[in-house]
Amino acid sequence: MAAEPVLEPSFHRTLIKSILAGDAAVDLVGRKVVVGGWVKTGREQGKGTFAFLELNDGSCLANLQVLVDAAVYSLSELVPTGTCVLVEGELKKPPEGAKQRIELRVEKVIEVGPVDAKYPLPKTKLTLENLREVVHLRARTNTISAVGRIRDELAYATHTFFRKNGFRYVHTPIITTSDCEGAGEMFQVTTLFSLAEKVEKELKLNPPPSESEVEAAKLLVKEKGEKVSQLKSSKASKEEIGASVSELTKAKENLSRLEERFKLKPGIPRKDDGGIAFDSDFFKRQAFLTVSGQLQVETYACALGNVYTFGPTFRAENSHTSRHLAEFWMVEPEMAFANLQDDMNYAESFVQFLCQWLLDHCLEDMEFMVKHYDKTAIERLKLVASTPFERISYTKAVQLLENVTDKKFENKVEWGIDLASEHERYLTEVIFKKPVIVYNYPKGIKAFYMRLNDDGKTVAAMDVLVPKVGELIGGSQREERLENLKQRILDSGLPLEPYEWYLDLRRYGTVKHSGFGLGFERMILFATGLDNIRDVIPFPRYPGKADL
Ligand code: 4AD
Ligand code: MG
Repeated sequence: MAAEPVLEPSFHRTLIKSILAGDAAVDLVGRKVVVGGWVKTGREQGKGTFAFLELNDGSCLANLQVLVDAAVYSLSELVPTGTCVLVEGELKKPPEGAKQRIELRVEKVIEVGPVDAKYPLPKTKLTLENLREVVHLRARTNTISAVGRIRDELAYATHTFFRKNGFRYVHTPIITTSDCEGAGEMFQVTTLFSLAEKVEKELKLNPPPSESEVEAAKLLVKEKGEKVSQLKSSKASKEEIGASVSELTKAKENLSRLEERFKLKPGIPRKDDGGIAFDSDFFKRQAFLTVSGQLQVETYACALGNVYTFGPTFRAENSHTSRHLAEFWMVEPEMAFANLQDDMNYAESFVQFLCQWLLDHCLEDMEFMVKHYDKTAIERLKLVASTPFERISYTKAVQLLENVTDKKFENKVEWGIDLASEHERYLTEVIFKKPVIVYNYPKGIKAFYMRLNDDGKTVAAMDVLVPKVGELIGGSQREERLENLKQRILDSGLPLEPYEWYLDLRRYGTVKHSGFGLGFERMILFATGLDNIRDVIPFPRYPGKADL
């Protein structure tokens, strides 16, 4: 039987983006192309003699108008929203008065991926909240696909920025045994539960031996042993002794199997004092999902110089806000021979570079955001890309906020306590109307690794605050002095032992260094103007939600 024809790797599908781009729409008239995508809307016309399909292939926001004659294919199979089609035809100029500049007249339908009436994305718009319930299909919508492209551009821009500035990309571990922020908000990585489940199931199926069964097996080993000695001392034949030794071996094997199973207990393995026996766990110690790659990336900064890590990070905080996720991505550069000023300079130019990148590479999707979600999104990108950020000390920020009379804050403003999101947004949105870098925070509210300032009260920390979002970046100059660092770890209520390797970086060739972390989803929120962080990551994870 002849094999079904398969698509050759060289199979050429023209992207809708390249058909609709600029002058292409005019230049390509008369060209034969193959186009594949999903039907946004389809309608039969001319009493069912032909159909118009609005086809989207994800390469850009815009759809290509596709015209199919009833003679070419059964139209009712093509028009339902969500149908996938791969078609070949000729690009034509539509009749005068049509709003399209180009359309595709189909000559052949190559493949169809049908949908039935249960397709969960109706033509009418679902809210972003509803779309979170169909996270596996929501990338088919205009909003989520636009966010997907913007996200991709920002990731590419991130690598471009750091490469241009001489940074190396380092992959830091996802599974870690160090708590970077010392905040105890880590998800634990363990196989103890699945192991316990397995044992429990096994014990039900195959109950463990009783004590008397083990005793009987011991007795048998004793008897078989005595028999071997007896045969040996009576100089019995080789064969007889051999047979008896093999019986003894069998009895011993049986005993050790029974003893092993006798020890099996349902539940999590415990130490003598009742605590969980983590030495029975996969890593023979407690392990977690990382909250930040910073500590590990510092090891490379103290060897390779300027480096960055960019990966997923995890926080088990029970936050239900529109700015927090349990799994989010962070860009974390770390610079050797750099102080807090350098840190702020890098942070500012990185954010400006990202904004300019979107203006240069993602305008169609940004215009969509302006039209549907946030009128000021493009203006904001332009402003941030071109305006120097304000820089004020934490002490100054608190003074400014204490003097605010036109707004009642829900949270207290007082030197020594952390700024709440409403304070951060007031500073950047109302007082300065541009990004603000707040630096030199009280040591009591910041992580142990931040460098103590000469005043003994504040640390060389900095947060970048932006309109719409509040905190976008958190960073600091790192404490490079061994004794100070030890003291800060202890003062933060943390044990020294797990941080010994980190202290080694200060024991051996310590260097002044600085770094920061940019919350990647917060950057996308800031850029798009969308309101909820759950809509800017493909698969959001937050309390009660981890679909797929
Ligand atoms: O301020 P954070 O906690 O800083 C650190 O983790 C440092 N170790 C970074 C470094 O210096 N290398 O987090 C950095 C940024 C925040 O400013 C925020 O934008 C984002 O990460 N972020 C979150 N984004 C989404 N969901 C959460 N739960 C987040 N927590 C922090
Ligand atoms: Mg922070």
